Amino acid sequence: MQTTLRPVELDRAQLRRRYLSNRDRTADLFGLVDPSAYYERPIGLRHPIVFYEGHIPAFSFSKLVREALRGAHLDPELERLFARGIDPASVADAARHERASWPERAHVQAFAATCDAAVLGALAAADLTDAAASPLLERGQAAFNILEHEEMHHETLLYMLHRLPLERKALAGRGAAYVERDPVASGRAIVPAGRATLGAKRDVPFAWDNEFDETPVDVAAFEMDVNDVTNGDWLAFVRAGGPVPSFWLERDGAFMLLGMFEEMPLPLTWPVYVTQTQARAYAAWRGGRLPTEAEYHRAAFGTPSGEERVFPWGDAAPTSAYGNFDFRRFDPEPVGTNPAGASAWGIHDLVGNGWEWTSTPFAPLPGFTPMASYPQYSADFFDGAHFVVKGASPVTNRHHVRRSFRNWYRPDYPYVYATFRTVNDS
Ligand code: AVJ
Ligand code: FE
Repeated sequence: MQTTLRPVELDRAQLRRRYLSNRDRTADLFGLVDPSAYYERPIGLRHPIVFYEGHIPAFSFSKLVREALRGAHLDPELERLFARGIDPASVADAARHERASWPERAHVQAFAATCDAAVLGALAAADLTDAAASPLLERGQAAFNILEHEEMHHETLLYMLHRLPLERKALAGRGAAYVERDPVASGRAIVPAGRATLGAKRDVPFAWDNEFDETPVDVAAFEMDVNDVTNGDWLAFVRAGGPVPSFWLERDGAFMLLGMFEEMPLPLTWPVYVTQTQARAYAAWRGGRLPTEAEYHRAAFGTPSGEERVFPWGDAAPTSAYGNFDFRRFDPEPVGTNPAGASAWGIHDLVGNGWEWTSTPFAPLPGFTPMASYPQYSADFFDGAHFVVKGASPVTNRHHVRRSFRNWYRPDYPYVYATFRTVNDS
């Protein structure tokens, strides 16, 4: 079926500003790392830190300038070295990606600067929407792809740097994160049966391939916790024999929390960050289960009138007034801190303060086709071994706060900023 889509209009000045502000944030995040840690691997399942300083600009250059616009190589060897990250199932698998040596930092940074110059040149002057010249330019796809790719890596970098020992981070000027507050609401909300719309229409300015096509789903009635499960809730589970989250530290018989820049007394009113496997165990212990992706949508965007909202709070553009996202903080905050961001059912923090685990395996929506500018982006992970998370963490860019955005992780990956809440059939 051929349909004509509204043409996409690119604003070059806006793309340039977004690219430069992303590069600034990347530089700031690398500024958190003590130079002595540059070749270290804070997470055994990922490349060392050096890889990311090369990967982000190399990816932008390769996608936009080389592949989409068919420009010349800058440095084929470094382009290849920095082409792709890894997602091995185990530390043993990760060892296969290990290299004896990485380039010197000055060399990586000089290469990054040449990538940036080429990308900025393309954003300023090239025809970025010439789909006849390249399918990667369809609706300006390659330009948006590189912007969102860098923004996602800010979060990847942060959860990785979270594991760097505190004495190897630049801590100066970081305010204390610890704060406790009792939630404004508690208990559960009943969400009646109704329609949830997953995915997006093809004429949105940009979405990743896994967000198409728009998919209506009928959801049966259920009830859902109005707040995320907190560290305090989880403590009861630990006392009953449940697992200790990877962000908790045991010090002299008491639990502390590992924040981004400090260890602090366990904040009992913050959402607990756990793996999907741990979340499932907790839900079962409470006699409930995790929500499906469609239930998340119904809870976040559904309304009693049957209309669906753009965001849980309505149509207003996402700002930190509505939730803990877009780098308002590096760490979570007490659950229910942003009542203005609650959904129509009075359910809090569905966007922000931690990704929300679902029980849904990451899989294509009906109508999926791999995107020309990054065919492996999603397809490589449709393997039943990754699960959908929705919403946003404190360090998720506001550009990714859209209803259709889907993120995914392995169910046992312990490093991500993901929390959960429980549901039951009603
Ligand atoms: C969509 C966040 C799961 O971090 O592996 C970055 C994003 N893909 N570079 C990831 C991504 C390629 C991806 N997630
Ligand atoms: Fe990447």
